[in-house]
Parts: sequence; C-alpha cells; structure tokens
Amino acid sequence: MVRYKELLVNVTMPFVQELPYLTNWCTLDRLLNMCSENEPGNCLGWAARDPSGVMSPYRFDRRAVGNDDVSIKITHCGMCYADVVWTRNLHGDSKYPLVPGHEIVGIVKEVGPNVSRFKVGDHVGVGTYVNSCRDCEFCDEGMEVCCVKGSVFTFNGVDVDGTVTKGGYSSFIVVHERYCYKIPENYPSHLAAPLLCAGITVYSPMIRHNMKQPGKSLGVIGLGGLGHMAVLFGKAFGLKVTVFSTSISKKEEALTVLGADNFVLSSDEQQMKALNKSLDFIIDSASGDHHFEPYLWLLKTFGVYVLLSFPKEVKFSPASLLIGMKTFSGSITGGTKLTQEMLDFCTAHKIYPKVEVVPIQYANEALERMIKRDVKYRFVIDIEDSLK
Ligand SMILES: NC(=O)c1ccc[n+]([C@@H]2O[C@H](COP(=O)([O-])OP(=O)(O)OC[C@H]3O[C@@H](n4cnc5c(N)ncnc54)[C@H](OP(=O)(O)O)[C@@H]3O)[C@@H](O)[C@H]2O)c1
Ligand SMILES: [Zn+2]
Ligand SMILES: [Zn+2]
Repeated sequence: MVRYKELLVNVTMPFVQELPYLTNWCTLDRLLNMCSENEPGNCLGWAARDPSGVMSPYRFDRRAVGNDDVSIKITHCGMCYADVVWTRNLHGDSKYPLVPGHEIVGIVKEVGPNVSRFKVGDHVGVGTYVNSCRDCEFCDEGMEVCCVKGSVFTFNGVDVDGTVTKGGYSSFIVVHERYCYKIPENYPSHLAAPLLCAGITVYSPMIRHNMKQPGKSLGVIGLGGLGHMAVLFGKAFGLKVTVFSTSISKKEEALTVLGADNFVLSSDEQQMKALNKSLDFIIDSASGDHHFEPYLWLLKTFGVYVLLSFPKEVKFSPASLLIGMKTFSGSITGGTKLTQEMLDFCTAHKIYPKVEVVPIQYANEALERMIKRDVKYRFVIDIEDSLK
C-alpha cells in the first residue's frame, strides 16, 4: 500500500505542479486521503517527499506517552518561512518524508505520571525545539535552544532515540513537558500559534539587547511573520518604528493596522539616505538575499543590528560597522523561560498577530505565496477542522 501511495504521489505531483489550474483537486485530495487512511501509523500529517517541497497526506507513528510527556491534540499550526526552507531542502539537510510546522497550539489529551505543569484539557503550545540535554549551563538558565549538546528541532531534527522529529502539520504531538507552554486563558488559539516561533524569535533579541526603551528608534526589515511581530513588540515597548519593505502594497496596513510610525520602500535610495544615523536598533527578518551596508549606515553610534534570517551570505565593509562602534548580532528563537514570558506579555498587552487562517489543503499554495512575499502576515493552518 505504501508503495502504491509513493507511486501515486510521484505520478501525480509533477502533474499538479505543471497544472496549477487543475480542477480535479478534490478527487486527487480524496485519493491521497484514502491512501493515507490505509497506511500504518497512529498520526495523520502532511509531508513533503522530496525537494519539490510538494506536501500530501502522510501517516506515521508518534511515540507512546512517557513519564514526563504530554500528548497534545493539535488545533492550529502557524506557517514559518522555515517550512519553505526545509520542505525544499534549501539548507541541504532535509530528511524526507518531512512533516513541517513549529508553531503548534493544541489541547492536552494525555499526560505521563510525572507531569506536574499540565493536565488534560489545558491549552498549550510547542515551539521550535522538543528536546535538549536539560543538564548544561544554558538548559539550566532556561535557554535550551542554546544547549551545548544541541537542541532537537521540532521537525527534521534527530531525537535522542534516533527518530527524525515530525512537526505540527499533523493531528497530535507527544513532547516532554519542559518544551510545552501554557497558552493563557482567553488568548485565541489561532493567534497564539505565530507567537511560538515568529513571536519569540523577535522578542528574545529585543530583550537581550535592551530594546524596551521608550523613545528610541527601531528599524524592521521585511514585513512577514517575524517582521510584523517586531513592529507590534516595538510599539508595545514605546519605540518609534520604521518598516523597510520591498512591497509597497504593505504600506497602508503597516501604518494603520500594525501602527508603524514610518514606512520606507527599501529600493528608494533617497528615502533610505534620509534616515542616515537615525536608528538605535535594526531587526532584519528579510527572507531573501539583500544588502546589509545601506542599513548599517542608518544606525546611530552604538546601534545594534540583529540578523534573524538566512540570506546566502552576509557581506559589508568593516567601516560600516566600525564607524559608530556598532554591534552586528544574530539570534535563534529563544529559551523556554522567555517564551512563556512572551506569551504572558502578549496576553497582558493585548498583542495579537495578524493572520490568515487556511485549511491544510491550502498549505502548498500558502508556501508558494510566502516565497512571493504575498503574506499578511502569517498563515495559520486550522488543523482541527481540516486535517481529517
Ligand atoms: N533566527 C530564527 O530563529 C528564525 C526563526 C524563524 C524564521 N527565521 C528566518 O527569518 C526569515 C523570515 O521568516 P518569516 O517566517 O518571517 O518569513 P515571511 O513571513 O515569509 O516574511 C519574509 C519577508 O521578507 C521580505 N523579503 C523576502 N525576500 C526578500 C528579499 N530578497 N529582499 C528583501 N526582503 C525580502 C518580505 O517582506 P517585504 O514584502 O516587506 O519586503 C517577506 O514577506 C526567514 O529567512 C526565516 O528562515 C529565522
Ligand atoms: Zn519558525
Ligand atoms: Zn543542555
């Protein structure tokens, strides 16, 4: 049966890619679903099978609930640019079949005997990693993502038992309670999902670089999932926020809906130069290749540039960094302690991501739209109602 399914996927998928106007989607979808029903495995998900990145239904086994584990019925999963990167093997290390998704929200359906922080029925989230050594200096500080033995990523990671982790485009997940967060009551599940990666990825360096300084100025490069969270946090911290975008279509909403103070089309050299030495902080979340130097010249003396994205290379003249004694730094998601703090901060300050909720059947198209920068500002998959 598995072989039959692989055959079906191999035969149909290139065909589907070439014919985006295919009207027979429903039939194809039903066929694939029928196959996944007959595959072995206690969990239904959607997986990419090869670097084409095309996803389709896929069954696999999740482990039994261990002493310290919680089992979570997934209701929503946000779509991060990381899902584009790994479904298409852009970093060269994708392990197929690959089930993406690391902005997971759901309801606890079972807990192991040692679990103390959660009970059945709790609203919880899981972010970008699901394991670490729990014994090193960084784990001790609640900075597990920096674990000296390496944290295990939520998908495409190799867990301690040797299995390849599978992410949140799936019906449920089993995870050690340490890597699970309480979603505060009355915070809507579909809005909580983007906080688990996009939210913490910008919040963590903003706290580390002391950006909670009302009156200071922040530049945000790239207005997608991460970028729009940086704008929302920036405003909540009392900063003057300038958005640098390649998409003029995002201008009005950036100013009115997200509350940015200024919007600059990054291709407009005059507008860029006018901001020379005007920014205290820059958060760079632009997913594609771009120049760094024009932005470094916009920083004031002692300014801080935080790179969050993965362009092919980082290149700038030493002078653009040294003159003004600037800091150029990187960051990767955040620790469990700060993630819970960020969730509580968003609840207390009524900070809500702007999302487009989609069914799992739309996932392939949503990834395409992210590549085309056509996202306002996070796709969130309604797993509960569409993954069947
Ligand atoms: N460090 C971490 O822990 C971490 C965590 C998650 C994601 N990431 C990385 O962060 C980046 C952003 O992720 P995301 O989920 O926010 O992506 P996203 O929602 O797809 O948004 C990315 C935005 O970047 C801008 N952009 C795209 N190509 C560009 C180019 N060639 N030059 C300039 N701007 C460009 C676009 O905004 P405009 O239309 O406004 O120009 C686009 O909407 C990705 O590289 C992702 O892999 C890192
Ligand atoms: Zn992510
Ligand atoms: Zn550790």
